[in-house]
Amino acid sequence: MKALVLSGGRGTRLRPITHTSAKQLIPIANKPILWYGLEAIAQAGIRDVGIIVGDTAADIRASVGDGSRFGIRATYIPQDAPLGLAHAVWTAREFLGREPFLMFLGDNLIKDSLKSLVDRFSREKPNALLLLAPVPNPSAFGVVELSGERIVRLIEKPADPPSNLALVGVYLFDSSIFDAITRLKPSGRGELEITEAIQLLLDDGKKMAHQKIERWWKDTGKKEDLLEANRFVLKEMEDDNIQGEVEQCEIRGPLAVGKGTRLIRCRITGPCVIGEHCVLEDSTIGPFTSISSNVRIVRSEINHSILLEDVRLTNLPRPLADSLLGRGVQITRDNSCEGSLRIMVGDQGEIQL
Ligand code: TTP
Repeated sequence: MKALVLSGGRGTRLRPITHTSAKQLIPIANKPILWYGLEAIAQAGIRDVGIIVGDTAADIRASVGDGSRFGIRATYIPQDAPLGLAHAVWTAREFLGREPFLMFLGDNLIKDSLKSLVDRFSREKPNALLLLAPVPNPSAFGVVELSGERIVRLIEKPADPPSNLALVGVYLFDSSIFDAITRLKPSGRGELEITEAIQLLLDDGKKMAHQKIERWWKDTGKKEDLLEANRFVLKEMEDDNIQGEVEQCEIRGPLAVGKGTRLIRCRITGPCVIGEHCVLEDSTIGPFTSISSNVRIVRSEINHSILLEDVRLTNLPRPLADSLLGRGVQITRDNSCEGSLRIMVGDQGEIQL
């Protein structure tokens, strides 16, 4: 079996971060989201992995390389434009050949092992095997309608959902999906929809299996979901791993601190991860905060947030919470501003005061 990981797309819901970075490389607990998926695929025993890439191809390649660090063989497949999940599968048809494959959305994070899915597919040989998760807001997802244990219909973002079972970003297909894709027309949003291709398989009477997720899954397409994924992964941290220097700090772990980082007179409540070569002084950090490398925080408070490299926070008048700060963002309290705010923020930036 092969795997196809979708790492192209527009990422409009994560602008402005996605103006300059691939959303699949945003770090969760200081590790790119995409790496979690590739590790899960390797753990399921799949070696041959095609990665769909778009405008951010260079960054994805730089991060994943030939795949050997994950124990996989990565093949990059450029998609001309993000014309939908089914279009991405069609783009990969030469790479996939006639083999069955596991399709994985590169911005999804999943705690279940994929091994039992792969084993079940090999054993039962359905035409498609779908992973489903109960969600509180089914109208925001592709949802299945069941009759007993059988899937009878798939509906994308239903106004009146027939169940609370959403399609998770993991699917297994055999090559009959290609025939279905050739019959698709672009949807209202101009994309070739994988849900419509699966519906065609159902209409053709193909064999469809499904499995409910047992642990946890998150589509990290929006800021709130990214922060929740960050909280979830950090919550699983158990031990401290402190490689930097800690001076006069009050720490309640778990806490990870990278090499060359200095923490001076800080109060830290774990779980938190702090990257390499950071300086944090007279600040209150955490819980549930991931700080990338080369960050400097002085006399400020931050919790439930993700900071990318080279962020600077100085003298913040109030705690910063539930925030995602891109590379090199600087926030400073400047007493010479006489009560006004002075801001330079990129296109589609978002500030809540
Ligand atoms: P989505 O999050 O559905 O789409 P998007 O990335 O365009 O984001 P937005 O809706 O915010 O504009 O995509 C799910 C995953 O599939 C994500 O990793 C991007 C990838 N993808 C492709 O590789 N090619 C595509 O044509 C599309 C639509 C998505």
